[in-house]
Amino acid sequence: MAEQQEYRTPYDILGDQGVKKLASAFYDVMDELPDAAHIRAMHAENLDSIKRMLAAYLTQWFGGPPVYQAIKGTVCLTDPHAPYAIGPKERDQWLTCMYTALDRIGASQELKDMVREPFYRIAETVRNQDDSKPKVRDPNIIAVG
Ligand code: HEM
Repeated sequence: MAEQQEYRTPYDILGDQGVKKLASAFYDVMDELPDAAHIRAMHAENLDSIKRMLAAYLTQWFGGPPVYQAIKGTVCLTDPHAPYAIGPKERDQWLTCMYTALDRIGASQELKDMVREPFYRIAETVRNQDDSKPKVRDPNIIAVG
């Protein structure tokens, strides 16, 4: 009889501490990387609480317990990002920080392959601008529908 392939989630691979390490490394990278200075400036000076929020979000999104939902009552990321102008440039800076953080914590190739594309897709969901122009309404454009 063929052996059944066991599916491991990113949370199974990283474990609770590994997810926390990744979230922490992510914001450390953002804090250090000159290429991420633009998105770093959108965040508070102290990154401790946002590290905890990202860890909670990733725990749940990676297949672990629903801890983000328990705090926020939702898993929607659109609302918390709505005040910030996030276009392709900001998305790519965010992804660079995440891919660098994965390297920094010594993530396996298996894990990197698993999360690379989903991270791109979720960053695309958070994107709310076509480019990085300031978020201002053009009074000459009348919304239809
Ligand atoms: C695409 C580029 C992104 C930018 C520029 C960005 C930027 C930000 C900023 C400025 C905040 C608020 C920080 C604060 O309150 O000090 C935030 C919050 C947050 N971001 Fe992002 N973000 C991006 C993508 C993502 C992605 C892809 C994820 C998840 C995989 C994510 C997860 C979070 C979480 C969990 C919070 C906390 C939200 C809350 O208050 O519950 N972000 N982000």
